[in-house]
Amino acid sequence: MTLAVPTPEVLIDPELHATGDPHALWRWMRDHRPVYWHNPGALPGFWSLTRYEDVRAVCRDPGTFSSEQGIVLRPESHGKDPGGGRTLALTDPPRHRQLRAVVADWFTTRSVRSLEGSMRGVVRSVIARAVEEGGCDFVTDVAARLPLYVICHLMGVPEEDREKLFQLASVAFGTADPVAQSAAHQEIMQHFVELMYQRMEEPADDLVSALVNSPVDGELLPEDDILLNCDNLLVGGTENVRLATSGGMLALLERPEEWQRLAADPGLLPTAVEEILRWTSSANVVMRVATAPTVIEGQRIEAGDRLMLWIPSANRDERVFTDPDRFDCARRPNRHLALGAGEHFCLGSLLARTEMRVLFRELLDMAVRVEQTGPAVPVRSIVVNGLESLPVRIVPR
Ligand code: HEM
Repeated sequence: MTLAVPTPEVLIDPELHATGDPHALWRWMRDHRPVYWHNPGALPGFWSLTRYEDVRAVCRDPGTFSSEQGIVLRPESHGKDPGGGRTLALTDPPRHRQLRAVVADWFTTRSVRSLEGSMRGVVRSVIARAVEEGGCDFVTDVAARLPLYVICHLMGVPEEDREKLFQLASVAFGTADPVAQSAAHQEIMQHFVELMYQRMEEPADDLVSALVNSPVDGELLPEDDILLNCDNLLVGGTENVRLATSGGMLALLERPEEWQRLAADPGLLPTAVEEILRWTSSANVVMRVATAPTVIEGQRIEAGDRLMLWIPSANRDERVFTDPDRFDCARRPNRHLALGAGEHFCLGSLLARTEMRVLFRELLDMAVRVEQTGPAVPVRSIVVNGLESLPVRIVPR
């Protein structure tokens, strides 16, 4: 009897990630073809890496595996990634470290801790409004609000512009319509152009001022680089938290016993947040380009080859995680790679963890019950995983 061999080629089809079962395919690849070559087609050729240790090792070796040519696989016809060599995510050492040092202060324990009180206030009002309105979309009305508020605060976006920016970001990152997305994105960038010029004249204590006024390698950043980094921070600061939080809510709605467990012991929140991060793995894949010939799992990789690191696969690798397909709020150890590893380890990791903990804590403390009222709609993308919409009703218990 011959067993059907899965076709890893489908990994670049967003439909597989939205409605199919990529985990079955990744399981097979981890066991049989952990370093798999995809021939060029609509997208350039690339290697798929699916095992935890390989993904982690590549992330931790920026000398051999560069981010400068972009971390998203693009058709050759789209040309070079405009952020290549200029944004935090798309630079290699030593420039990467210099750039990271400019913004790192806003993401330290002390800085994030100082925001916790206002985070709680935002979450309480968001939940209270959802209760009042009867029904809402957990993705846009709840999960998206806190991260956008926080990143706007850190970047120095004036309070009166935040609601407008929230509406624009909901279109730019939350809809499937590419034309509307691009228009909203342009408008967001226009806000940052104005903010950048204001901060050049009148620096304040915020991230945009830091990007505008801090020399990197002896020179101030060009305006385009400042704007690209603002975009990187806004997208990084909002999109993944929204996806991970709403994916986590769905996981808990589907497993009422895990929600009960958390309600009975809120001390489990830190491990629950880690499990939500592992389970949702909202950053689906990141790319690196080899700078020199190397060998992974016995497979020769040439300089210039692209490697796609499938994070959800690494996070369900049975070589590392016990019972990886089980969602367990108390999982320990849980050294997932949802926030990356090494040089580019997520700058906003502490912020993201805190935002998620605060949101779930308030849902528990405010004595509300979340009920799903319609089907969850997945995003269609290979770059990120998660939900576009999750209709719910939030009611007093
Ligand atoms: C659940 C939430 C989040 C997830 C799953 C996530 C995931 C990731 C991952 C996987 C990377 C590494 C990319 C790579 O290696 O190429 C990364 C980097 C980054 N993240 Fe996050 N992130 C989250 C929240 C945030 C937040 C709240 C911010 C706030 C600004 C942020 C800003 C960034 C930035 C600027 C980088 C680039 C860091 C560097 O290259 O040094 N992220 N994130």
